[in-house]
Amino acid sequence: MAIDRILGIETSCDETAAAVVERGRRVLSNVVASQIELHQKFGGVVPEVASRRHVELILPVIDEALERAGMTPADVDGVAVTYGPGLVGSLLVGLSAAKALSLAMDKPFVGINHIEGHIYANFLSHPDLEPPLVCLTVAGGHTVLLYVPEYGAYEVLGSTRDDAAGEAFDKVARVLGLGYPGGPEIDRIARAFWDREQSPANPQGDGSRGAVEIVLPRAMLDEGYEFSFSGLKTAALNHINQVRQRGLTLDVAEFSAAFQEAIVDVLVVKTMRAAADKAVTNVIMAGGVASNSRLRERMAAAGAERGLNVFWPAPILCTDNAAMIAAAGYYRLQAGERSPLDLNARPGLALR
Ligand code: KG4
Ligand code: ZN
Repeated sequence: MAIDRILGIETSCDETAAAVVERGRRVLSNVVASQIELHQKFGGVVPEVASRRHVELILPVIDEALERAGMTPADVDGVAVTYGPGLVGSLLVGLSAAKALSLAMDKPFVGINHIEGHIYANFLSHPDLEPPLVCLTVAGGHTVLLYVPEYGAYEVLGSTRDDAAGEAFDKVARVLGLGYPGGPEIDRIARAFWDREQSPANPQGDGSRGAVEIVLPRAMLDEGYEFSFSGLKTAALNHINQVRQRGLTLDVAEFSAAFQEAIVDVLVVKTMRAAADKAVTNVIMAGGVASNSRLRERMAAAGAERGLNVFWPAPILCTDNAAMIAAAGYYRLQAGERSPLDLNARPGLALR
């Protein structure tokens, strides 16, 4: 039987998601029920609350994904589900649903690494994109630089030693009182700063310098592929506290721009280093932080200077979704891979 249409299921963190994707490239439906509002009052994801919500949402979300694709469970050729990394209680909800469907409908089933899913979001947004490539995956829980020589093969070049890039965005945003998740807010406010700097009404403003008053660290910029954002986070929090203790007013727009620039500098330099060392022409970005407008702008400019093609997924495919899981699942199921029905959730699953 041909394997064409895959049902993807994703519940690794705070989005309950299901999608149907055809031949790994065409999205027939993509349903994401976000729990962001539920967790906002806590300033972050509460694992126990997330699991309970997944239980309530998973079946309606799967039904809706099938309905929007104009299909019944019998029309699906396989089921792909995230089994790690993520919150164990959350992962188990999606995994159990996927196993039940696979067993009931007698369809093949495969477990997918969430980070691999993020990478495949690029193949959905860019139908002609092919490996080899270098991928920067930057999300709330992960920051990892990868070399992808072919479909399904990964060489981890470097990852974060402490905080993920998105985590740093969220923690600093929280102290600035910008709410959760804070990444998109910092992006928006920093953009207002650049617009202000470069506006004709501010002839002294030099957007290329920008935010020079605030000096923040760029860890391990000059060597290797490892990242570290905890020093930056601490320096940022110290700066905010010092300004407040002195009774001064923090220019939140300028500070957001300076903080974002420190993260973007490191991400761009290391990604370009990897592209040169691996001699690839395709560079892709994945994960929630890949929708950061400054990161896109700077990565695209750095790529253009070096004759590289730089890609990122459409915004809806950057943050957690199940279409990316279905896309990754298609290539694995197509290659004959199957997961056993006793596959367990793996909160710390690494990409291999
Ligand atoms: O991929 P994702 O939905 O979840 C994980 O797998 O972690 O990423 C969520 C993260 C959050 O930390 C959020 O603040 C960040 O992505 N994010 C952004 C932007 N949009 C989302 N960070 C910076 N700028 C953005 N525009
Ligand atoms: Zn994610």
